[in-house]
Amino acid sequence: MNEPSAPATAASATAAVRIWRGLADTAVLLDGFHALKHALRFGAQIPVALTSDRAAVLHLAEDLAPDLREPLGALLVEVTDEALRALVPRIHPTGVAALAVRPSRTANLEALARMPRSAPVVVLDNPRNLGNAGAVIRLAAGFGATGVVTTGTLDPWHPTVVRGGAGLHFATAVERLDVADLPRGPLFALDAEGEDIRGLKIPDDAVLAFGSERSGLSGEVRARADHLVSLPMRPQVSSYNLATSVAMTLFHWSASGAE
Ligand SMILES: C[S@@+](CC[C@H](N)C(=O)[O-])C[C@H]1O[C@@H](n2cnc3c(N)ncnc32)[C@H](O)[C@@H]1O
Repeated sequence: MNEPSAPATAASATAAVRIWRGLADTAVLLDGFHALKHALRFGAQIPVALTSDRAAVLHLAEDLAPDLREPLGALLVEVTDEALRALVPRIHPTGVAALAVRPSRTANLEALARMPRSAPVVVLDNPRNLGNAGAVIRLAAGFGATGVVTTGTLDPWHPTVVRGGAGLHFATAVERLDVADLPRGPLFALDAEGEDIRGLKIPDDAVLAFGSERSGLSGEVRARADHLVSLPMRPQVSSYNLATSVAMTLFHWSASGAE
C-alpha cells in the first residue's frame, strides 16, 4: 500500500487502470468524493479509486472527512486527466471516482429477513424515477432503516440510482424482489385515502410500502397491506412526491417509535 501522502508512480497508475478495466462491468461506480466517502464509512470493499489530482482530494478529505484521510491516502491513485476521462466520461466536479464491489444478494436478503427487526424496511412498489429511488436510499440510510426493496423493473443498483444515493447503498440492504417475497412484518401501505398517520405508531418491524409515481400502490401490495396510511395533506392537493412521502413516514417512525 502507498503511504498516505505518497504520489502514485506511473507503474501503479497503469496497474490501477488495468484493475478498473477488469472490474468496470460488474462493480458499482462511486462517482465523486461524497459517494466514495459514504461507501468507505459503511464498509464497502473498494478495489480501486482514481483521481487526476490526488493532493486536491486529500485536501478535501482534511476539510470534510478527516476520519478518512488515512484510508483515502492509501487507496487513491493519481492518473492523468485523459486516462480518467477515458474511464469515466462525466467526471464529478470533485475529480474522483472509484469502483466498489456490490454486496452479495444473499447477505442483503438475510439482512432483510432477519427478525426481530429494529428498524423498518422501505418498499418502493414499481417505482419509475431513478432519482427518486436514489433519494429514498439516502433517506433510508440516514434513518437507519433495515433496507430498501423495490418491486417491478427498475434496477435499484442502476448507476443513476447509486449517484442519487450518494454512496449510501452500502449503509442499508438494497434489493429488488417480487411482492410475494417481501420481508415479513406488518405491512403499512401509504396512500392518500388511508388512515391519518398522526394517530398511528409505526412499529420497528414494519414494512413501509409506497406506490409508483404514476399509478400509486399496486393491487398486489394493497391486497397484502395490514394498514392503509395517509400523510396529512390539505384538500385539493392530490399527492406528495414519492421520496418526500418516504421522508415524512420515516420521520414519523423515528419520532414516535422510541419510548
Ligand atoms: C406521487 S404518489 C402517487 C400518486 C398516484 N397518482 C396515486 O394515484 O396514488 C407516490 C406515492 O407516494 C405516497 N404518497 C403520496 N402522497 C401521499 C399521501 N398524502 N398520503 C400517503 N401516501 C402518499 C403513496 O405511497 C403514493 O403511492
